[in-house]
Amino acid sequence: MIRDAINSDKFSVLNFCKDTFSWGDYIQDVWDYWLSEGNLLLVEKQYPVGMCHAFFSKNQIWIEGIRIKSNFRRQGLASELIKHVESLAKEKQILFSFMLVDTKNSSSISMAKSLNYHIFQTWNFYSLFSQINNNHKIQFGTVLNYTQIPHYVKSWRWLALDEETLLSLYKQNKIIFSDNSGDISTAILTDSEHFDKTLIVTLFSGSQDNTLDIISYIQNYGAEKNYQKIQILTKEKLFFLNTLEHKTTFNLMQKFLH
Ligand SMILES: CC(C)(COP(=O)(O)OP(=O)(O)OC[C@H]1O[C@@H](n2cnc3c(N)ncnc32)[C@H](O)[C@@H]1OP(=O)(O)O)[C@@H](O)C(=O)NCCC(=O)NCCS
Repeated sequence: MIRDAINSDKFSVLNFCKDTFSWGDYIQDVWDYWLSEGNLLLVEKQYPVGMCHAFFSKNQIWIEGIRIKSNFRRQGLASELIKHVESLAKEKQILFSFMLVDTKNSSSISMAKSLNYHIFQTWNFYSLFSQINNNHKIQFGTVLNYTQIPHYVKSWRWLALDEETLLSLYKQNKIIFSDNSGDISTAILTDSEHFDKTLIVTLFSGSQDNTLDIISYIQNYGAEKNYQKIQILTKEKLFFLNTLEHKTTFNLMQKFLH
């Protein structure tokens, strides 16, 4: 009933993933990429009626794109898919499973809780307009303490921020910070692997002044490098700015796999 997806499943899966949310869905944009990464799983009843993708990294699995065709919901199919992924993770001695759920998606939060996931953290998603702005005094460097900050966002996956990753991001000048006044603010800049010209920023916001400094730099960087979209993910609620739009709030759900 559960199997790996193949390319010819694309049409039937995308057919039931067209209108998942009020704004549509994004599965059509990531299907090819997820298929090439592997662990794109389907649940089928003569034909595919559900999907999810699992991304295995060092110490965790990331479960994304859980979709069940509407007339097949509440039959335990999403739960079966997730339990299947968890069993694959346990075979690899992986200890943690994560998924990201919109705080307004009550059915998905209920489902995650019914599978013993808990709300690990809550993250805000902002979009920022790029703008030439030379008024910033940021610095490059690794002031982040990865033992206190367990994750950064890469292509909408919250991945472990270990020493090796930190060093590699640092060498690419992808870690910036501002400590001009008050608590330090830091950000990690990454390119989306799925969407062209999309900058994804994980922001750890300290004082308002320092965060404003970082935002000025990012706006300028976005304008100079011709980014079409700048997406900021941060645990903090940010202040009002004309060029900053709060889009959604997400729960990062976690489960310890015994
Ligand atoms: C969320 C979704 C994946 C759940 O799939 P599903 O196959 O219906 O879920 P399950 O049957 O495994 O549900 C397991 C439990 O979750 C909870 N649950 C699932 N849907 C629920 C709903 N609409 N309302 C309340 N609780 C719900 C229930 O506790 C349920 O157990 P029960 O049916 O015995 O009461 C499905 O509704 C869906 O595809 N939604 C649109 C896409 C989406 O939101 N994906 C998740 C993005 S993170």
